[in-house]
Amino acid sequence: MYTIGTIGSGSVGTVIARLSIRAGHSVVMSNRRGPNSLVELVQAFGPFARAATAAEAADSADIVVVAVPLSAYKNVPVDRLRGKIVIDANNYYPDRDGHIDELDTERMSSSELLQRHLPTRLSSRPSTTSPPNTSQPSRDRTVPIEVPSQSPVTPRGPKRP
Ligand SMILES: NC(=O)c1ccc[n+]([C@@H]2O[C@H](COP(=O)([O-])OP(=O)(O)OC[C@H]3O[C@@H](n4cnc5c(N)ncnc54)[C@H](OP(=O)(O)O)[C@@H]3O)[C@@H](O)[C@H]2O)c1
Repeated sequence: MYTIGTIGSGSVGTVIARLSIRAGHSVVMSNRRGPNSLVELVQAFGPFARAATAAEAADSADIVVVAVPLSAYKNVPVDRLRGKIVIDANNYYPDRDGHIDELDTERMSSSELLQRHLPTRLSSRPSTTSPPNTSQPSRDRTVPIEVPSQSPVTPRGPKRP
């Protein structure tokens, strides 16, 4: 059993949390407004879910899913992510995120932008990444999957019956 941290607990973070619990893992969920705003949600998920700050979620998780609007990527708590498996769900939508020059000019992808901010290597890109100036995500320039053979992940958390 692993502990999955969600940085961002909107549509994507909530689905990741639900599926993770269903698969036998525990989750630590975080958002921008703080743990109190997630109390009802984690209660509905049961004993294997709890709410925390983004820093605590990153700290206590084995695997961290970043699912925030791309405009917030610089707020991802990098110090707590060193050596962790980090999964990037973010997409770039200029209308929502504001224009980011590196992405508009295709010098890098949204995952490469997040990677530049992180102290650890992004482990995978689960879904899609957005080309600039479109409203439709596509599979361009994904960051390759790379899980170290000596994975730092050791399953933690309460034992299930
Ligand atoms: N929805 C999809 O089908 C889908 C599919 C693939 C990828 N994506 C991408 O995945 C990302 C998340 O999408 P979403 O639909 O889940 O968005 P969403 O429903 O708007 O949720 C965004 C979450 O990020 C949190 N957040 C914002 N700033 C934060 C910060 N500085 N620190 C911690 N949490 C922060 C928000 O917290 P508050 O609620 O407190 O504001 C909220 O929980 C986006 O980049 C999106 O493009 C979405």
